[in-house]
Amino acid sequence: MTYNLFDSFPLNKTVELQNRIVMAPLTRCMADDDLVPTQAMADYYARRADTGLIISEATIIRPDGQGYPNTPGLFTAKQVEGWKLVTNAVHDKGGKIFAQLWHTGRVAHPHFFGGDYVLAPSAQKVEGSVPRMRELEYTIPKAATAEEIKQLVEDYGQAAENAIAAGFDGIEIHGANGYLIDQFLHHDSNKRNDEFGGSPENMARFPLQVVNEISARIGNDRTALRISPGAYFNMAGDKRDREVFDYFLAQLTQKDLAYLHIGIFDDSLEFDYLDGTATDYVRANYNKTLIGVGGYTAQTGSKAIKANRFDLLAIGRPLIANPDYIERIKTGEELVQYSDDMLATLV
Ligand SMILES: Cc1cc2nc3c(=O)[nH]c(=O)nc-3n(C[C@H](O)[C@H](O)[C@H](O)COP(=O)(O)O)c2cc1C
Repeated sequence: MTYNLFDSFPLNKTVELQNRIVMAPLTRCMADDDLVPTQAMADYYARRADTGLIISEATIIRPDGQGYPNTPGLFTAKQVEGWKLVTNAVHDKGGKIFAQLWHTGRVAHPHFFGGDYVLAPSAQKVEGSVPRMRELEYTIPKAATAEEIKQLVEDYGQAAENAIAAGFDGIEIHGANGYLIDQFLHHDSNKRNDEFGGSPENMARFPLQVVNEISARIGNDRTALRISPGAYFNMAGDKRDREVFDYFLAQLTQKDLAYLHIGIFDDSLEFDYLDGTATDYVRANYNKTLIGVGGYTAQTGSKAIKANRFDLLAIGRPLIANPDYIERIKTGEELVQYSDDMLATLV
């Protein structure tokens, strides 16, 4: 079969992608105990450098953003040096790589950073406990003060500068999957009645401040964003979320970001308040570069691009199972099936 996936794609003024397949951000919990990327991580990413763009595993902007063990950071000099191993290895193979910047908000846990509490828009707890560390129940978060929100915006900006210093081609703000930024955008987690809650403009204020801060520091064309308009992970949906995203997308359309990326595991999922899938909703309300993801094969992804549902296809689990995914798709060789057991080692 011939695919449109191997067409090159101009991402911005300086970055041309060699094909339309993007490696989705995939947390692997393999950083060292100082949250520094390792040589094994550099080798792992380099093996996948023939994808058009790699988006790094989610990388925390500061200690209290941590919600899982051994997730890398971008707030110390050692972490920046560690990431240089990765970006150099990917660039040496002709690839491009963005860093995904992360703060888990109410999904963080004090266990990881030795604090007394975690920050979130509101004191609304997530049920359950940290995956892989079931003894750590989620705590009731502290509602961030305006001063703390201002500091968070600055820390996102600093982490973005650190990413550029580490050699990344750009950054993707993790605004999806129920983490801090997404928590501001949904009614389930944002019950504030100050300038950061209560209306679409207010609920989108912090996410837009982060976008603006990072764009000002590293350039809008090196700034990208992942969003989940359909709440599906650590969060309940609310039909009022729709107007928040209508407003947010209208604002984002006015910014020339590198791209927007949907955060979803299964893109066949329909949300009644979005009148369909998250992807189709965003495509209808945002007219710039869009990355689709969530259960696609090369064949179904190629079809979706042809139908103009999105521009670039992110592949997650199949790229864990098949470091040589691109080669296999090109030659028609059968793919190795992904299983969760594969998460225990980096290959
Ligand atoms: C092990 C694993 C780790 C993930 N880590 C992240 C992450 O760090 N950041 C993120 O935005 N999404 C993360 N995701 C979601 C993926 O980026 C992607 O949206 C999802 O796997 C669906 O795509 P797929 O069907 O091609 O795997 C993760 C998914 C898996 C399976």
